[in-house]
Amino acid sequence: MKVLLIGGGGREHALGWKIAQSPQLSKLYLLPGNPGLTPLGETLSLAETDPVAITDFAKSEAIDLVVVGPEAVLATGLGDLLRASGIACFGPGKEAAQLETSKSFMKDVCATAGAPTAAYGKFSNAEDAKAFLREQTAPFVIKADGLAAGKGVIITQTLDEADAAVDDMLGGRFGDAGAELIIEEFMDGEEASFFAVSDGETIISMIAVQDHKRAYDGDKGPNTGGMGAYSPAPVFTQAVYERTMDEIIKPVIKEMRQRGTPYIGVLYAGLMIKNERPRLIEINARFGDPECQIMMCRMKSDFLPILYAAATGNLAGQEITWDDGAAALVVMAAEGYPGAYKKGSVIEGVEAATALPGVTVFHAGTKEADGRLLSNGGRVLNITATGSDISEAITRAYKGIDAINWPGGFYRRDIAWRALERDTPERNP
Ligand code: AMP
Ligand code: GLY
Repeated sequence: MKVLLIGGGGREHALGWKIAQSPQLSKLYLLPGNPGLTPLGETLSLAETDPVAITDFAKSEAIDLVVVGPEAVLATGLGDLLRASGIACFGPGKEAAQLETSKSFMKDVCATAGAPTAAYGKFSNAEDAKAFLREQTAPFVIKADGLAAGKGVIITQTLDEADAAVDDMLGGRFGDAGAELIIEEFMDGEEASFFAVSDGETIISMIAVQDHKRAYDGDKGPNTGGMGAYSPAPVFTQAVYERTMDEIIKPVIKEMRQRGTPYIGVLYAGLMIKNERPRLIEINARFGDPECQIMMCRMKSDFLPILYAAATGNLAGQEITWDDGAAALVVMAAEGYPGAYKKGSVIEGVEAATALPGVTVFHAGTKEADGRLLSNGGRVLNITATGSDISEAITRAYKGIDAINWPGGFYRRDIAWRALERDTPERNP
């Protein structure tokens, strides 16, 4: 099978690494890939956000399957264009991707599907938004409606700050993404991300992963795309799994099918869990980053046939098997991230880290120049490890970190603390 993988972050390195292990792969094309992916395939120089050029290329090379990593590419409608040209694509079309790209669309689908999520109000006018805030109690949750690269959420205890967030968002700070905003009920609990693959009708549940969004130890500091992750997620018990499937995943997939825009790809449910009751914080239309890296390391099945079956409506009868153990990941980020940071500092020791038991290093923001590996982004490396339990996995991941010599980087030293502190046994999935 000829596969084109779109994206160039840690998530895509993990997907490409897994796909490259499949005996069914004949050739992997990368757009744009990264230094970790380069040895696994042929790098293309098309623009990721040019769906017409990508579709033309896929047709001319007789690509069997296109796998889309980033939401920004889904938002271009690449999935629709490929499918209209008879090319299988793992990733929803533009309409269905609105589950991620428009919070009000997601809320609307949840309301019809009966999927539990925070109560909300939607506003394009600052005065109305502020009047609504005065009917709520703190903490206040204010979100830009569209894609805002993970930075479109403000949570604050004071009305003054809430008002300022309203002015800020409606004042154009997020461009079109902030033309409308949502004010939402604050949900208390513990967060986990759960994933399921669908061909539009059949659903295969995957596993739950927990990540750490704050930049510094103790879950302090600014929000980031994720500084570390682990799985299984102890908070995601069998009861939570069943409720998530019955109350969220199945009804949402059914609703998308009934709307005539079937959901093809991976559905990422960002959950807030309290007293074994899951509620949706958000839906993403793609794999999580760094959650995907964890999932690819725990997956025992060949993933390529599953991706292809999902993209071609043939998921019925397929299954995914998982390692009984655990996986954990620590992000190495450039000093200064998520604020301003420098690019171009030299990284050494990736090979030594990779040689350690259970350790895989996924590249996120790196580049190669003159035979040296350089930092080229905010989140730079994902040191991932498997083990018989979370404790062993995270210990191995930190041994991987110790093998890497990168003075320009930093990482959190307390990834998975919540899971390690729990005295209840871990339960799958
Ligand atoms: P989002 O971009 O919607 O994933 O939100 C980013 C983060 O803000 C989430 O991971 C949560 O930690 C937090 N958050 C978002 N919405 C809520 C809410 N309604 N209640 C509590 N926390 C929230
Ligand atoms: N790790 C969070 C995300 O991928 O959105």
